[in-house]
Amino acid sequence: MKCLTATLLLTAFVTASPHKPLDARNEVARRQSAEACSIGYCTQNGGTTGGSGGETVTVKDVDSLVNAAKQDGPLTIIVSGAISGSAKVRVASNKTIYGEAGSSLTGVGFYIRRTNNVIVRNLKIAKVEAKNGDAIGIDGSSNVWVDHCDLSGDLSRGKDDYDGLVDISHGSQWITVSNTYFHDHWKASLIGHSDSNAKEDQGSLHITYAGNHFYNTYSRAPLIRFGTVHIINTFWDSLISSGVNCRMGAQVLIQSSAFKNSSQNAVFFADSKETGYAVLDDVDLGGSRNSVPVGTLTVSALPYAPIKALGSATIPSAIPSTAGQKL
Ligand SMILES: *[C@@H]1O[C@H](CO)[C@@H](O)[C@H](O)[C@H]1NC(C)=O
Ligand SMILES: *[C@@H]1O[C@H](CO)[C@@H](O)[C@H](O)[C@H]1NC(C)=O
Repeated sequence: MKCLTATLLLTAFVTASPHKPLDARNEVARRQSAEACSIGYCTQNGGTTGGSGGETVTVKDVDSLVNAAKQDGPLTIIVSGAISGSAKVRVASNKTIYGEAGSSLTGVGFYIRRTNNVIVRNLKIAKVEAKNGDAIGIDGSSNVWVDHCDLSGDLSRGKDDYDGLVDISHGSQWITVSNTYFHDHWKASLIGHSDSNAKEDQGSLHITYAGNHFYNTYSRAPLIRFGTVHIINTFWDSLISSGVNCRMGAQVLIQSSAFKNSSQNAVFFADSKETGYAVLDDVDLGGSRNSVPVGTLTVSALPYAPIKALGSATIPSAIPSTAGQKL
């Protein structure tokens, strides 16, 4: 009898919904929100574990999110449902912020300042007004993993109505931005905010960009000053003005990636006192151009476990189906 009821219920559910049953989704969220960074520079310096080992709370409104993010000690925060507002959420150390499938944040951005060990995963963040900073701002922090996020603005608004989607500054270190969809935005992603910040940034800003998808962004995909940046398995589609802007001695390695229907400035240098450098290995420029001098960063210089190169020919089909809020 019990068994029959369960079978009938399950059948009814499967018929009614194309999604996984709720219990299964909760189980997936529980497991994935406990995972440590497993890719790129955020595996260094002792690794990035976020809130693991601490409690888990679920938040459904801006005030609860703000309060949870500033707590002391390790904490996992599950974002549930559609949340709108206007806020710059300060994130304290040892936090994982994980978006449940179907959740979203509109007008609400994160400011990860002078903290360490933070994971931001599976979040969909849109339309954060410039007065609230970036969708995700990482400032003077170490060990941060941004993974499977969907980040966007609105190109119908003015260029400075929004700031960046992921901006990394003030000597931040051991950061990975992976499987993230950057789209419909003016200034996508900035590494190193000023030519005059060599004192903090030179020899710092070790960052990995892996498996990301840039679509219909205007500039900064990303813009890099001073840093050591490994970009792999990335798809740039329909860039409006420019792609990877290498400045102020930045050393960049771009591997196994592809550009499509993009402006002439795929990999270039502009608007700083000094150029940066890039090594390109299996990059399909899709008719666009690389105009920066060849640098020195190679795979053998990377301190972490190799990231599997998917190959430039596979990128245009593989990356759009994995990048974004897809966990
Ligand atoms: C974060 O967690 C680590 C490891 O448990 C601990 O050493 C550190 O003090 C914590 N940081 C803060 C600011 O609580
Ligand atoms: C190519 O990119 C431009 C700039 O983003 C866009 O306006 C246009 O629609 C794209 N064309 C195609 C065929 O995707």
